[in-house]
Amino acid sequence: MNLPDLEKARERSNKEILHKDVLPLVDDTLKGEKFFIRTYGCQMNVHDTEQIRGILLNLGMEEVDDLEKAKVIVLNTCAIRENAHDKVFGFLGRIKHYKKEHPDVIVCLGGCMAQEESVVKEVMKRHPYINLVFGTHHIHELGQMILNASSSMDVNVTSEEGCVYEQIEYARDSKYKAWVNIMYGCDKFCTYCIVPYTRGRERSRKMENILSEVKRLKDLGYMEVTLLGQNVNAYGLDLGYDFATLLEQVALIGIPRIRFVTSHPWNFTEKMIEVISKYPNIMPYIHLPLQSGSDRILKLMGRRYTQEEYINLFKMIKKNIPNCAITTDIIVGFPMETEEDFNETLKVARMLHFDGAYTFIYSPREGTPASKMKDDVSLEVKEERLQRLNELINADSKKSNEALVGKVVPVLIESASDKGDDIMMGYTDTMKLVNVSGAKDAVGKIVNVCITDAKSFSLDGEMVK
Ligand code: 5AD
Ligand code: SF4
Repeated sequence: MNLPDLEKARERSNKEILHKDVLPLVDDTLKGEKFFIRTYGCQMNVHDTEQIRGILLNLGMEEVDDLEKAKVIVLNTCAIRENAHDKVFGFLGRIKHYKKEHPDVIVCLGGCMAQEESVVKEVMKRHPYINLVFGTHHIHELGQMILNASSSMDVNVTSEEGCVYEQIEYARDSKYKAWVNIMYGCDKFCTYCIVPYTRGRERSRKMENILSEVKRLKDLGYMEVTLLGQNVNAYGLDLGYDFATLLEQVALIGIPRIRFVTSHPWNFTEKMIEVISKYPNIMPYIHLPLQSGSDRILKLMGRRYTQEEYINLFKMIKKNIPNCAITTDIIVGFPMETEEDFNETLKVARMLHFDGAYTFIYSPREGTPASKMKDDVSLEVKEERLQRLNELINADSKKSNEALVGKVVPVLIESASDKGDDIMMGYTDTMKLVNVSGAKDAVGKIVNVCITDAKSFSLDGEMVK
């Protein structure tokens, strides 16, 4: 339950990792009962929820989207920034009332927040009615934990990861797009980031198991897979192979669209660029977090690259992968960030014209090295920097969208859009959201769409027959 310190976490890298399959749990005690899941955070959590759903459906339970109908409530939480915490504690306030009136309901709190010692302490004090707290290394045990649940809180959280789970039964959200986990954890230890502590050291799945999962998905008719890891370009280094080799093998399976997230600029190899440009079914889209444009701040962040190295990599990708879209993550207001440092970030963004960016105000995370640095940029300045950055980013993303007006682009149609039942939504190969008219019967297909209008965050288009 303790947050491992940096040295201990690094020491763990020398320990042997076991690769195990997860056997489905067979038990009909809860058959016919309802469950409700709420997911916070990144794609990794969304995919973990697909595992949780798989476990509960396998017990014969049914999913509901109304909390008040549920016998089992699961919160799959995120710890990346303070506001993710606040949302979960806000929701727990609501559950508290519900549980008072329905004491037999089983409330489970899992995910990254459950890995934090301070959260577990707070939960024990303020929300003692919670039945189960389960960490990121214990998801596969959730079924048994629920079957054993009692009125006292069962906390199943460790900081030791030990295993890589290979065969997992997922109940996926989509019939067309699938997440495929290729690795767990992160060893980069960027100084602001809690992920290496909540998710543990980098552990890769075996290539043969990933390839057979992708083959199965192709046979089931999936059109797109996204290979998932906190830092996919470190894939396989612990097992003696590399990400570019995996990517090529996945491309050869012949699934129509392949994506991957997230890439660290530090060990993004030329071989990866070669493979991406060689296979038309690897999508020309890369999410490449910059975090800061200032060398001084990048160093304080422990990012292992300079502004110049980032710019060179960006240009090399753009030169070798035709029409490649690149998005990024940027943090403003890191400890000791001066106006001059921030201007370096603006300069890089102005020079590179990102297709889009997720921008964040720095949020100190307990136990990380940055949380011990002087958080000396005032909230007012942080907010003002965020606004200036967003104006620039949004204008660029609108411009990159406008460049598509009048062009015909391939779109994988997913479902009805929020614009009404006649307008469908989907994504281009470069990961731009399009609202498409005339594509009602095209769900699950890649169709040609003529782009008619561009906004900052989406495009409008018409299907071309
Ligand atoms: N404060 C603000 N943003 C953060 N991120 C990670 N940790 C923090 C933090 N402590 C951002 C980074 C990362 C993205 C997933 O979240 O930009 O790439
Ligand atoms: Fe966190 Fe990403 Fe850095 Fe890993 S590479 S520590 S997940 S920001």
